[in-house]
Amino acid sequence: MLSRITTTAGRHPQTTHAESELQGSIRRRLHEVIPGGAHTYAKGDDQFPAEAPAAIVRGEGCRVWDAEGNVYVEYGAGLRAVTLGHAYPRVTEAAKEALALGTNYSRPSLVELECAEQLVGLIASAEMAKFTKDGSSATTAAVKLARAHTGRDLIALCGDHPFFSYDDWFFATTVMTAGIPRGVAELSLTFRYNDPAGLERLFDAHPGQIACVILEAERSEPPRDDFLRRVADVCRREGAVLVLDEMITGFRWHVGGAQAIYGIEPDLSTFGKGIANGFSVSALVGRRDLLELGGNETDRERVFLLSTTHGAETHALAAAMATMDVYAEQDVIGALHEAGRRLRNGVEAAAGAAGVADHLRVVGRDCNLVFETRGPDGTPSQPYRTLFMQELVRRGVLAPSFVVTYSHDDQTIDATIEVVAEALEVYAKALEDGVERYLVGPSVKPVYRRFN
Ligand SMILES: Cc1ncc(COP(=O)(O)O)c(C=O)c1O
Repeated sequence: MLSRITTTAGRHPQTTHAESELQGSIRRRLHEVIPGGAHTYAKGDDQFPAEAPAAIVRGEGCRVWDAEGNVYVEYGAGLRAVTLGHAYPRVTEAAKEALALGTNYSRPSLVELECAEQLVGLIASAEMAKFTKDGSSATTAAVKLARAHTGRDLIALCGDHPFFSYDDWFFATTVMTAGIPRGVAELSLTFRYNDPAGLERLFDAHPGQIACVILEAERSEPPRDDFLRRVADVCRREGAVLVLDEMITGFRWHVGGAQAIYGIEPDLSTFGKGIANGFSVSALVGRRDLLELGGNETDRERVFLLSTTHGAETHALAAAMATMDVYAEQDVIGALHEAGRRLRNGVEAAAGAAGVADHLRVVGRDCNLVFETRGPDGTPSQPYRTLFMQELVRRGVLAPSFVVTYSHDDQTIDATIEVVAEALEVYAKALEDGVERYLVGPSVKPVYRRFN
């Protein structure tokens, strides 16, 4: 079974658990020069079990290799940005071709135009697009545009959605508020998903003061009772801008984003991640009259909107265009859902067989699965999350989630299910004996979200 997981050259991680000298030294060096040991919060040591590889040296398809040549089947690649698979040839070739022509000029490149046209053609609510390098700057720009358009300061964001931006307007609503001026928190109001009455109460309490409502269309919980349309109606009635964050849903739920599935038309939406199969491209798209506030044609006060040196690097946009071509020619979305469905069914069957179905649950849309881990008392448990990930890592599966790519084939999914089944046998024992007996390192830390 292990050899099925390791179908591409590379060693399977050994099940001796002491950290090797090389892994230890990489880990120490990472923390010596990089705060948190990684440039992305979710990649940090505090989010993975102790035996997870310290660093990755290469990826291909749905697999990654660590510095010692150990190979892992990976889920949730690139924070869900890698939707086709690592080093997907069509995309890397397009990027290489663009690289040979230079990456950044003093005037817009043609690829900026063509990529914007291609993207706008895919998203129903998009009349214009502005590219940037990361999702956070796109959502922050949406908030800024909404404030400029409405002349209002407050924003309403969904308190159940874990991440919109690294900027203060979002982090002021979390438990990680160090460095954020006190007044900022007062400008960011939160509402609960699937609670339209709660959102209306915010507008009632702050009449004429809320510039925008920002949310994802769907996280692990689907919208109930026409929630999204009701949010859109509230925004229209109150004159607030509706911002849909499609960073995850875009190019995963549907090429045109979850808005295409639910039939809603946001004023602005933000895309990233899957647009370019892991290359650094994100976009703010939406209504012309709003986006033009950041353009030359406006007769209103101009907004300084998303101007960055590297915002339109040619090779990344060429990668985005190639990625969009692949989506146009092949049923990537259907395959992501199909692979996820196969994995979900297998994991649920394995959890049932191990008697832990109430403790390990797979949630979310098939194309974007996460797992919930619960301890003996049935409440969410970080130690059990750590144990589950640890047992997967030991068997060659690196899985902070069960988010698949287009490169996860049936054979790999089935091999993963077998690994999950073994991991769940350990989980079941830990529920009897106590998790501490089985954990070899500290528990992964809970994330920073809180509802206020
Ligand atoms: C829904 C959502 N919005 C925004 C962002 C921010 O994107 P980035 O990390 O590219 O800044 C993320 C990143 O995880 C996200 O998941």
